[in-house]
Order: sequence, then C-alpha cells, then structure tokens
Amino acid sequence: MPEVTTDVDAAVRVLRAGGLVGLPTETVYGLAAHARNPEAVRRVFAVKGRPPTHPLIVHLPDASHVGRWAAEIPAALASLADALWPGPLTVVMRAAAEVPAEVTGGRDTVAVRVPAHPLALEVLRRLDDGLAAPSANRFGEVSPTTAAHVVADLGDDVDLVLDGGPCLVGVESTIIDLSGETPEVLRTGAVTVEELSSLLGTGVTLWSGEGEARAPGMLASHYAPHATVYMLDDAAASTEIATGLPGEGSIAVLAGTTTELDQVRSGLAGLAHRLVDLEPVGGPEGFAHDLYDRLRQADRLKCTAVVVVAPPPQGVGAAVRDRLARASSGN
Ligand code: TXA
Ligand code: MG
Repeated sequence: MPEVTTDVDAAVRVLRAGGLVGLPTETVYGLAAHARNPEAVRRVFAVKGRPPTHPLIVHLPDASHVGRWAAEIPAALASLADALWPGPLTVVMRAAAEVPAEVTGGRDTVAVRVPAHPLALEVLRRLDDGLAAPSANRFGEVSPTTAAHVVADLGDDVDLVLDGGPCLVGVESTIIDLSGETPEVLRTGAVTVEELSSLLGTGVTLWSGEGEARAPGMLASHYAPHATVYMLDDAAASTEIATGLPGEGSIAVLAGTTTELDQVRSGLAGLAHRLVDLEPVGGPEGFAHDLYDRLRQADRLKCTAVVVVAPPPQGVGAAVRDRLARASSGN
C-alpha cells in the first residue's frame, strides 16, 4: 500500500522525482504529477486508464503563475481570480506553446485552477510550479473525497497519498471556458453560474453537454457508481419507480433527511426487505460533501440500485443534481 502521510516535504520529493501523489483539494482528491514532466503525466493516464485525449487541469500556487501556462491571459480572469481563488473554479484559456501536449490532450487550450486546501497550496508553493491532476479515481469510478478512497482505488499505483482529511466541497470544480467569444460554463460545481455572471457583469451560458468534443471526460459514466442510480425530485415520486427497479439485489436509499428516507420506504413498501438506508446527508452542502462517499458505500454493499432524493438546485445543489442526472441518465 502507498505511504499515507501529512508530510508535505515527502510529497514534494516524490513529485520532483517524477512520481505520483494523491493530493487533497477542497473539491475531490487529485492524482498529481509535475505538469512539466511529460513522462510523469503519461503515468497519470496509465494509472487512471484514461484516454490520452482527455485533458488534465493544471493546479497552480497562485494566480501570478497563470502567465506561465496561458498564451494570453483572458481579460475576464482577474475579477474571477480575485474573488474566487484559491477555490473550486477551473478556467480554460488558450495554452502557451510550451505546455506539454500530454496535459492538454493535444488541444490549444489549457485548464488551470488554484485549489483551496492548505496542504495542496503548501506543496504547490514549495514546488513553485504546476501540478497536473485529474480526480484520483480509476476511470469509471466516482471521484475520491478521502485519502482512504484514493488508497482503495489506486493502491500501489500511487506513490504517496497526502492525507488532508475529507474534502470540504465534495464535488469537482466548476469549469468556465474563457477561450472563446463568450464565457461558457462546461461543468457546474460549488461556484454557481449566477455567481460567475454577476462577477463578470455579463450573461454566462451553460454548455448543453452535446457531444464530447468540448470537454472530453464528462461522460455520464465518469460520475456514476456501479449500482444503477435513480434520481427523484422528491421522496413522494418513489412510488412511480417501484416497478422499474432491478428485480434482485439490495437497493440503497440516499436522502437529505430521515423524513425523506421514511417517505421513500413507504413509497417502496413492497420492496422493504431489499432496502438499505444510507446515512442522510442534509441540505445541498451536506449532499455535495457526502455524495461520493455514499455512492461508494452502495457499491461496497453490492447494491444493484441507489434511489436518491435529490437536493434543491440552490448553490452547490445544482452541481449535485448535475452529477446525479449524468449518473442516472436512462433511468
Ligand atoms: O475539482 C476538480 O476539478 C478536480 C480536482 C482534483 O482539482 N479535478 C478534476 O479533474 O475533476 P478531472 O480530470 O476528473 O476533470 C477535469 C475536466 C475534464 O472533464 C476535462 O475534459 C476538463 O476538465 N478539461 C481539462 N482541460 C480542458 C480544456 N483544455 N478544455 C476543456 N475542458 C478541459
Ligand atoms: Mg474525474
């Protein structure tokens, strides 16, 4: 098993030597490699089983580093960086020529962010450079939000895991693309579309999700557990899905409150012997914080389905609903 530690020096040594580190951020754990070391970045793809055309996010110690990665700094960046960095916002911009093609997936754009986690920032400052880091899960698993998730997914394929505790936000960063004519949100997260519009003083569009070309790696399967996800707008709707659920295996139930859990239990009364309650997660923030841990739990319990009463779309609730909608598409 990899070394699990809070020793920042050890993490920096591994990264300088071209190794891979499980890196805590405020969103999810990343699988970090020195972004200027193409060989190390190639290993990230190999370990994840990720297609080489799916670009990685470059994590930076602060906004002053952006000029080393961008061909030109977008005019709109300053207001976003001032207000939201360090924080769960990734910005896509035109890439500087020297950014390794391994990082960009061969595109002419690069995605960068400054993560808000003290250990990640300490590593980045000591390295004084960028770290390419996708979420530290194997391709096809949900993102890890604890050091234990990283170890469970990657084992010895990661050289060291820096243990920064459970991630505060729990879902991946918001991605805004500033490389085109108008700013476009490619992925929702804790930073909302409304917040971005108001900071930029202009309408921000939300990418429709059509096709994979715009932001490869956002397929439904990237956000889905093995169990089939059934997303409900409210607990009362559980009666409508009863007949469509898998015919065998345990069915996990995830909701914000015990009241909602009880409502689902009565809606699915005929299946009572197969239902497994997951611990309720509270409002939108709690939902984001615990979502991936609960989905992983459903998989550990070998449930064939997870019925989820989605949180309201306020704040990070919109991102939780986005991930659940992707995970449940078709159900
Ligand atoms: O919160 C996060 O963003 C986490 C933590 C570790 O920072 N990282 C993360 O990475 O979620 P990953 O690789 O799982 O997702 C990165 C997403 C992918 O969907 C990819 O398509 C998109 O960012 N992306 C990266 N570079 C891009 C680019 N140049 N243009 C468009 N999309 C890009
Ligand atoms: Mg990912």
